[in-house]
Amino acid sequence: MKFFIDTANLQEIKEANDLGVLDGVTTNPSLMAKEGITGQQNILNHYVAICEIVDGDVSAEVIATDLEGMIREGEILAALHKNIVVKIPMIPEGIKAIKYFSNKGIRTNCTLIFSAGQALLAAKAGATYISPFIGRLDDISVNGLDLVAQIRQIYDNYVFDTEILAASVRHPMHIINCAEIGADVMTGPLSAILALAKHPLTDSGLKQFLADHAKGNN
Ligand code: G3P
Repeated sequence: MKFFIDTANLQEIKEANDLGVLDGVTTNPSLMAKEGITGQQNILNHYVAICEIVDGDVSAEVIATDLEGMIREGEILAALHKNIVVKIPMIPEGIKAIKYFSNKGIRTNCTLIFSAGQALLAAKAGATYISPFIGRLDDISVNGLDLVAQIRQIYDNYVFDTEILAASVRHPMHIINCAEIGADVMTGPLSAILALAKHPLTDSGLKQFLADHAKGNN
């Protein structure tokens, strides 16, 4: 299972990368705006800065919603760095753009996936990744993990190469459940990744080991 971090914050990306378990980064226009990154050149520079930190796939999202615009922006993004994956929204023009980039060997991440039908279409168009937003489904009382399981079954039935990138992950149980289902990738905040390491018995056990060692060495 690949671990991506879902942020445009360079400090958090460095911290996750230093753990040695980071396989990539996902961003979106909201995450870029949250870091105060505005203006086309600053945005492009920021993607390059992320690619220089992490040796893994970095999703960079197009803003255009028409085919021509998505192709123009996607080609600029893909040319920035070999690790860039062009993130395209799940809309009819987006499906065409994914097909276009797939034919050109440019990797894509189809974002804003909320149904199995959308995931099937994106895979048929040749998306490298699809991003079902599980947290946002949970927010409206629909089980996001059920969608991941449904997509897993469909992709396995037909041996689609498209990777399921569980997105909008909010907490460590999302990550564990995605691993049980067989999501290829999860993208989440640093807090959810770090929370996987925490256990009170680990903390108390370590405290005891160190105290016993200190007693024996006095
Ligand atoms: O990867 C998608 C993600 O950025 C959306 O997360 O927490 O805004 O639903 P969230």
